[in-house]
Amino acid sequence: MSRLLSFVLTAVLASSLASAAPTAISTSGSSVASAAQPSQTVPLASDDPNGVLWNTTTDTDPQPIRGELGGTILAQQNIPLQEQNPDILAPPTTDHGLIPNVKWPFSLSTMRLFTGGYVRQQNIQQMPVSTSLAAADMRLEPGAIRELHWHSTSEWAYVLKGHMQVTSVDQDGRNFLGTVGPGDLWYFPPGIPHSLQATNQSEGGAEFLLIFDNGDFSDESTFSLTDWLAHTPKEVIAKNFGTSLSAWDNLPGQELYIFPSEPPNPDATAPEDPQGQVPNPYIYRLSEANATQLAGGAIKIVDTRNFTISTTTSAAEVWVEPGGMRELHWHPTQDEWTYYISGSARVTEFATSATAQTYNYVAGDIGFVPAGYGHYVENIGNSTLHYLEIYNSDRVVDVSLNQWLALTPPEIVKANLDISDETIAHLTKIKPYVVGATEV
Ligand SMILES: *[C@@H]1O[C@H](CO)[C@@H](O)[C@H](O)[C@H]1NC(C)=O
Ligand SMILES: *[C@@H]1O[C@H](CO)[C@@H](O)[C@H](O)[C@H]1NC(C)=O
Ligand SMILES: *[C@@H]1O[C@H](CO)[C@@H](O)[C@H](O)[C@H]1NC(C)=O
Ligand SMILES: *[C@@H]1O[C@H](CO)[C@@H](O)[C@H](O)[C@H]1NC(C)=O
Ligand SMILES: *[C@@H]1O[C@H](CO)[C@@H](O)[C@H](O)[C@H]1NC(C)=O
Repeated sequence: MSRLLSFVLTAVLASSLASAAPTAISTSGSSVASAAQPSQTVPLASDDPNGVLWNTTTDTDPQPIRGELGGTILAQQNIPLQEQNPDILAPPTTDHGLIPNVKWPFSLSTMRLFTGGYVRQQNIQQMPVSTSLAAADMRLEPGAIRELHWHSTSEWAYVLKGHMQVTSVDQDGRNFLGTVGPGDLWYFPPGIPHSLQATNQSEGGAEFLLIFDNGDFSDESTFSLTDWLAHTPKEVIAKNFGTSLSAWDNLPGQELYIFPSEPPNPDATAPEDPQGQVPNPYIYRLSEANATQLAGGAIKIVDTRNFTISTTTSAAEVWVEPGGMRELHWHPTQDEWTYYISGSARVTEFATSATAQTYNYVAGDIGFVPAGYGHYVENIGNSTLHYLEIYNSDRVVDVSLNQWLALTPPEIVKANLDISDETIAHLTKIKPYVVGATEV
């Protein structure tokens, strides 16, 4: 009853203030012949406190309550999940409506276990909005091999831990062998065959993120060498290579996919090739590139301007210091597939039509931002937020809200937002990418 009463009182007070406002303006004498301010046609934006209400280390009971709104959950609760998702349980009052689900923790993907490693994936089955990009997280023990195979999509990879040796041969018979470590990339164009093998330079072998340029892709449906030959008459195999049948006595009778093997020599090189090497390398040592330092963190942008072969996938590796934020921006025609490496984040995605939803992410979570959606990525923890923005395009492209407003005639910006010259002076003509902490 008392909550209802205070709601009614607040509403009465607010409406009396609203009706008083025009009088105040007309008696001030400053409104002369100027156009109506935006605040005269619609209500003002709310000053409700809309911060994050708890994290996994605060001693807060995680309940769907924000200010006067909501109430405790009386029935079943999953406290660890509630602790991890404060903005889903107690959304900011600026959230409204529903966007497609844009969060998938790899921890919820079913693992496929092999001798020598594992793989788990995320595609449209786990997150239907991700029609343009699918992913897998793969672990290989030292020496273990992801067998020779190809697929109809391209494959872009980021090494999370350890070192890998990758091989390939292109359609013109030009070969490639490369070794990569943590923070490095590889890329194979659609249909180009390749193998992946963990070296023994790190004790645990390697783990890496694989990105495919089609959300419908499944890592269970690749063209594997052993699967093909196990489903080809042995007479045909012998004839193809000009051998006896017995040369194939030990041929695996089904797909291997991942299997243990001897670690490769880290200094190995590709076999002598009369056609030469592939013209554009299939690896890029992103770990060796210098990050661009920014007010609130750092960024490395990698696309076809640096990694020439990677025409279907590009990425930004981002670091946001505590209190900092990847600024309000959007990607004009590119979907963003996001992977969180460390730290914790808050992201609100705006989808037009008064629709916006806020999500929280921690290490191991996948996010997604459909093309055009306005968004920010805020570090809400006390350690560095480190994550990858991956795009289904040859270039990293974004529009910065700050830069857009700074380069628009100030009269137009002031007319839209009813802000002062002092606020206009804060706009920056150089894209900030990651802004630093500000006391508000
Ligand atoms: C790693 O593998 C190489 C063979 O490629 C071998 O010479 C070396 O001894 C191995 N190192 C360790 C630490 O196992
Ligand atoms: C990175 O920065 C360091 C120090 O400024 C410099 O010595 C090095 O050449 C730079 N590396 C690249 C790849 O630009
Ligand atoms: C890739 O090239 C672009 C354009 O020259 C540059 O802005 C960017 O910093 C480069 N990225 C890396 C990782 O060196
Ligand atoms: C959790 O929130 C508290 C209070 O805001 C803050 O002091 C603490 O650093 C946060 N912990 C993490 C891990 O972000
Ligand atoms: C972050 O916060 C947690 C608990 O809130 C604390 O244990 C930890 O020491 C903090 N880390 C830093 C780097 O301040």
